[in-house]
Amino acid sequence: MTKKKKPELRSRQWYGGSDKSAFMHRSWMKNQGMPEDMFDGRPIIGICNTWSEMTPCNAHLRDLAERVKMGVYEAGGFPIEFPAMSASESQTRPTAMLHRNLAAMEVEESIRAYPIDGIVLMVGCDKTTPSLIMGAASCDIPTIVVSGGPMLNGRFQGKTVGSGTSVFQWTEEMRAGKMSKQEFLEAEAGHSRSPGSCMTMGTASTMASMAEILGLALQQNAVIPAVDSRRRVLAQQSGRQIVDLVHKGITISQICTHDAFKNAIIVNAAIGGSTNAALHLIAIARRLGIGLSLNDWDKFGREIPTLLDLMPSGRFLMEEFYYAGGLPAIIRTLGEHGKLAKDALTVTTKSIWENNKDAKNWDKEVIREWDNPLTTSGGIAVLRGNLAPRGAVLKPSAASSHLFKHRGKAVVFNNIEEYKQRIADPELDVDKNSILVLRNCGPKGYPGMAEVGNMGLPPKLLAKGIRDMIRISDARMSGTAYGTVILHVAPEAADGGPLALVVEGDMIDVDIEARVLHLDVSDEELARRRAELTIQLPPVQSGYQQLYRDHVQQADLGCDFDFSIHSSELTKQRVSH
Ligand code: FES
Repeated sequence: MTKKKKPELRSRQWYGGSDKSAFMHRSWMKNQGMPEDMFDGRPIIGICNTWSEMTPCNAHLRDLAERVKMGVYEAGGFPIEFPAMSASESQTRPTAMLHRNLAAMEVEESIRAYPIDGIVLMVGCDKTTPSLIMGAASCDIPTIVVSGGPMLNGRFQGKTVGSGTSVFQWTEEMRAGKMSKQEFLEAEAGHSRSPGSCMTMGTASTMASMAEILGLALQQNAVIPAVDSRRRVLAQQSGRQIVDLVHKGITISQICTHDAFKNAIIVNAAIGGSTNAALHLIAIARRLGIGLSLNDWDKFGREIPTLLDLMPSGRFLMEEFYYAGGLPAIIRTLGEHGKLAKDALTVTTKSIWENNKDAKNWDKEVIREWDNPLTTSGGIAVLRGNLAPRGAVLKPSAASSHLFKHRGKAVVFNNIEEYKQRIADPELDVDKNSILVLRNCGPKGYPGMAEVGNMGLPPKLLAKGIRDMIRISDARMSGTAYGTVILHVAPEAADGGPLALVVEGDMIDVDIEARVLHLDVSDEELARRRAELTIQLPPVQSGYQQLYRDHVQQADLGCDFDFSIHSSELTKQRVSH
């Protein structure tokens, strides 16, 4: 049998040979104390790190990267760590999503510019995961994701607290004098008491799970708590594994196939994942030349039950998820019921099914059994109609069933500032059947598409005990939020979408089962309103924001830049290996 030839390494173009160029590349690296044999033809592994003290969820990633390096050395590679822009969900203004594409560009250009044979992506907070995967996908080199892991459960006054779940309540209690300043400060400390990302099934946990089911991360990457010693083991093993992937020439496009994305949509439904995942996975897929569409979310996810009883849809937190068996237990259950493409390849060089078929479920309250789900229909519903010709999304598991079929009068807010000014007005013409419409908060209208779609209800209705109403917008919402909230309406109002044509008092029909979002206004009247429509975008604050507005695509296409999406021709010209 002939032995398979190892792929030629990119890094040899920098470090191989005896010419002036090779001398310079090696010599300057040697100023860091690199011994000669580091340049002997071993794989150069880039460790792309979103460590930042401005991104508290990722602040421990420098330490974790040392474990990755250890693994790379053990496997005979040469690790080189470098930074990438770290979009912090909790600290960035106006919104971390504005910088997802910027970070993706930075990662892509870094990989193209440097002698990197394989890459380890160190991620955690919401946008850091998709941005780095998008950048790596454009380059199509061997890639492994190492997530920072979730924080320990929040604890305050004897109770377990999920990230973000009690902030509103505590703020109100403080304002009402029911909570002292000292208690308020103690609540802050108990809420976020260890390194790691939000420990609910917000966007960070969702995207870490997506990386694992896509096959880009080792088992349990999504769930091992940040401070658990086993996370360090996973980092070290990932360092070993990336060297193996380079030797075998297995690149990200061989792992992230259409089947892998289909599996990801199904798992997202089973874990009650964030609506933001729809944007991010579509963006990643399109960079790989895979035509994942919004319809695929409905097609593959609709009949999948939510098995995980985790906040915000359920009761538990990521720590309990890990102790119950983690994502492998969910994957095994879905596979046993014939829902997954079992042959999808992973970074272990084995299939997703080989990796997970023996996983155990140790706590059937946290990870429900197939015939006892949290909700029978998980996933993300994609609504269409004359109000959302290119689609809008809603998470049925987070919505109120009594609003699934509803007709209501529109109360329209032209932007988030107007919403804030008017929502508490006692004279606001609104009742429990009204539908709150917020526009100009989409990718162009509010560059970055802020997480403001789950507008708070009018205080006068809250006082009457109303807890949910239909809300429609071109914005996003946090993965930790819930309610009957229709998001990502495409095209957005600022791009001339029909949301711009709604007038206060118009009747809107929502039918979630039938997937319909209809503005009950005649075509003639809509045409008349369109003829009179003028779109005035608020000024941007920077050159990057202008570039973003000029080139961002609509939500149904994942909000990536039009120039970052590779045509099939460009895809063939990826980084030379
Ligand atoms: Fe970083 Fe939630 S704020 S994961």
